[in-house]
Amino acid sequence: MTKGIIISGGWGTRLRPLTCTIPKSLIPIGNKPVLERQILLLKSAGVTDITLAVSVMAEVLKNYFKDGKDLGVNIRYTDEKNPMGTAGAIKLAEDHIQDDNFFMLNGDVILNFDFKQMLKAHEKSKGMGLISGRTVEDPSRYGVLIVEETSNKIIKFLEKDEYNPPEGNYNPMPVNAGVYLLEPDVFDYIETGKKVSIEKDVFPKLASEGVLYYYPISGIWKDIGKPEELLEGNILLMKDILRGLESSTKNLIGDNLDVEGKVIFHPPVTIGENVTIRSNCEIGPNVIIGNNVYIGENTKITETLIYNDAYISKDVNIDKTIVSDNCLIQDGVELKGKDRNLVILASYVEVSKNVCLNAPSNSSLTICHHETVRQDFGDI
Ligand code: GTP
Repeated sequence: MTKGIIISGGWGTRLRPLTCTIPKSLIPIGNKPVLERQILLLKSAGVTDITLAVSVMAEVLKNYFKDGKDLGVNIRYTDEKNPMGTAGAIKLAEDHIQDDNFFMLNGDVILNFDFKQMLKAHEKSKGMGLISGRTVEDPSRYGVLIVEETSNKIIKFLEKDEYNPPEGNYNPMPVNAGVYLLEPDVFDYIETGKKVSIEKDVFPKLASEGVLYYYPISGIWKDIGKPEELLEGNILLMKDILRGLESSTKNLIGDNLDVEGKVIFHPPVTIGENVTIRSNCEIGPNVIIGNNVYIGENTKITETLIYNDAYISKDVNIDKTIVSDNCLIQDGVELKGKDRNLVILASYVEVSKNVCLNAPSNSSLTICHHETVRQDFGDI
């Protein structure tokens, strides 16, 4: 029976300071952890025996998913004291998953394609591994797959920066999407007790032996490695969910929304449970608000993520920002990102009255967890 393993033990350094308090795989996407969405996708393809390869903040992940019963699956955990690399991490689960083929997922990608179809394609290819991918206009930021067109065999598996485009010009190329279907023989290529990367040390070798095949995926695909990708991924998923609903549904609104007076929603907007919004607010477009959030009057929010238990006072203006859980934003505050550079407040940040935080034009502006910001800074 096909099993699943999701690697979710990396440091998530590019998402700091958000990942200082929340493991990357537990970061909410449309108010549900990215990893939970993946588990449900595996379950919908009949894969219910799932191993989570955890390491950094392992206890937080174990405490959230426990044995998986609440989601209708069986979850086990590997014991990986320090991150052993993407292949080293799965080697620790060899005893449990070596009896059949298995899905391996990077625990930080937003997806929604049909895993059953991928399983069928793998059985047809008879290879040692089926690597999912997507053709992108600019492959320079990804691992590139050189694929033989007629057979779909991967001839070369190149890591980021290893691909030299012809005459220096990047053309659309298939890139690694972070979902694999592997036969247990792959364990023979991973040395026990060593830090091993599946992308750098294993797949290039298997490609040279001609045993890897390419599977182009459909639907949405986005990894949430960087803050701007996290915001884009949330918006992408929200639009995708709305596309699947009746055309009259413009926003995703949770239970117990308490709206007082006139509030304008510019779609699309997602609102979690137990949210209070006071009069004269304008929310949206592209805003995702978590559970138990309070928003005071005359507040305007656009293109922003707000996590659970945030308190946003009155006369606040927020654009292109990520507000993590339990933040406190006082009256008259202005938080403004610029293009792909965001304002990022980690958990439990407090921003004092009338403070303006503007992201500079060359980077995001980040505030570490539990800090109180008492004065303006950034590009003002
Ligand atoms: P950055 O530090 O920002 O690069 O993030 P990351 O540590 O998550 O690395 P990366 O984005 O390359 O990881 C892709 C997926 O693999 C994520 O779901 C990680 O949690 C996971 N991962 C990366 N390295 C390890 C590891 O050594 N052990 C385990 N168990 N998972 C890993």
